[in-house]
Amino acid sequence: MGPVFKHYDLELVVPEFSSSLTDLIIELDHLRRKKLSGSTRPAVFFQLKNIFHTLESIGSARIEGNNTTIAEYIETKLAEAPPSNPGIREIVNMEQAMAFIDENVNVRDADFNRAFVSELHKKVVEGLLPPPDGEGDHTPGIYRTKSVSITGSAHKPPEPIQIEGYMDELLAFITRKDEPKYDLLKVAIAHHRFLWIHPFTNGNGRTVRLFTYAMLVKQGFNVGVGRILNPTAIFCCNRENYYRYLSSSDTGEEKDILSWCEYVLKGLKGEIEKIDRLLDYDYLKREILLPAISYSQERKSVTDVEARILKKAVEMKELRASYLKDIFPDKKPSEISRKIGRLKDRKMLMPIEKGARKYVIRFANNFLLRGIIQLLGDKGFLPIKDDV
Ligand SMILES: Nc1ncnc2c1ncn2[C@@H]1O[C@H](COP(=O)(O)OP(=O)(O)O)[C@@H](O)[C@H]1O
Ligand SMILES: [Mg+2]
Repeated sequence: MGPVFKHYDLELVVPEFSSSLTDLIIELDHLRRKKLSGSTRPAVFFQLKNIFHTLESIGSARIEGNNTTIAEYIETKLAEAPPSNPGIREIVNMEQAMAFIDENVNVRDADFNRAFVSELHKKVVEGLLPPPDGEGDHTPGIYRTKSVSITGSAHKPPEPIQIEGYMDELLAFITRKDEPKYDLLKVAIAHHRFLWIHPFTNGNGRTVRLFTYAMLVKQGFNVGVGRILNPTAIFCCNRENYYRYLSSSDTGEEKDILSWCEYVLKGLKGEIEKIDRLLDYDYLKREILLPAISYSQERKSVTDVEARILKKAVEMKELRASYLKDIFPDKKPSEISRKIGRLKDRKMLMPIEKGARKYVIRFANNFLLRGIIQLLGDKGFLPIKDDV
């Protein structure tokens, strides 16, 4: 028998008090409320956040077969070339959609309505050819008008005529005011329900992973300097698991939806713990930044002198011209200023804030990035890896 459609009611599932899912909810709720007191400077942290967003975008595209490697994508970024092929374009789209969420969603007043979902979908498929030629869609931002099936799934998504009703119900479920203790369960339930509906012809997976990010941002997991959230990492680090949990929830059985929720929230907790480690500057300095500079130095992406200046900046957390006197005892202040100016031009240092004469290391847009990615990978921070 082929896939069949079977309705189930969208409801909040309630875990038993003694269950491990309840423990997870309590722990995550604590993490959400905890005052953020990481010692890593915002200017440095935001660069890491951007790197993670890039990797999440690659990971999300990879789930359904995009073969772009991290290395290729990073090289294209460094070359500042416009998206050269559809695989790259697909990832750029995801990055832009994430930036859109960062700019537009905040804790107080994001409206998760149909227009918002539409906008996300448009951004996901923009400039891409529709299937079978590409990963775009014939009707960006518009619910599908044909029936679809999901490869490898026994569930048949609802017919086009039912989509609007199901989506309205889902959006009302997401936005209605329940007690905050249900917030996280709702994120997980909504992710599955969206895919169960499969409102678009293509791009459903990428859109819902972005939507999940938006919901978590709105729930306060990403306030101000806050944490970098990496919800896509939960799904893209093991696609088989992700599909297995999705499939078993498709019948809507309460026990299966509960297992799905536990799978999602466990992943989320793991990601938040990783982020908290990077917010600890001593850890970041010792395990990532200093070794990354050495890595670039060994490969001659930076000169020995540059490496020494950058290491000083990292060790001292910020660099002032006066700190360089021990490195260059014989140099005049003007010469030292020139060296700093050169590193600013090469985008390896940046002022802590506009006009300040204190600098932090900059690695998001230059060859240091390769070293940073290498080290983040070595320490298990990356959601995905290149097969080598
Ligand atoms: N059994 C399933 N039930 C519901 N959704 C599923 C199932 N298996 C896979 N999916 C979801 O469907 C997505 C693929 O749908 P598609 O519209 O092609 O999205 P995209 O083009 O963004 O990859 C997967 O990324 C996954 O999120
Ligand atoms: Mg697809």
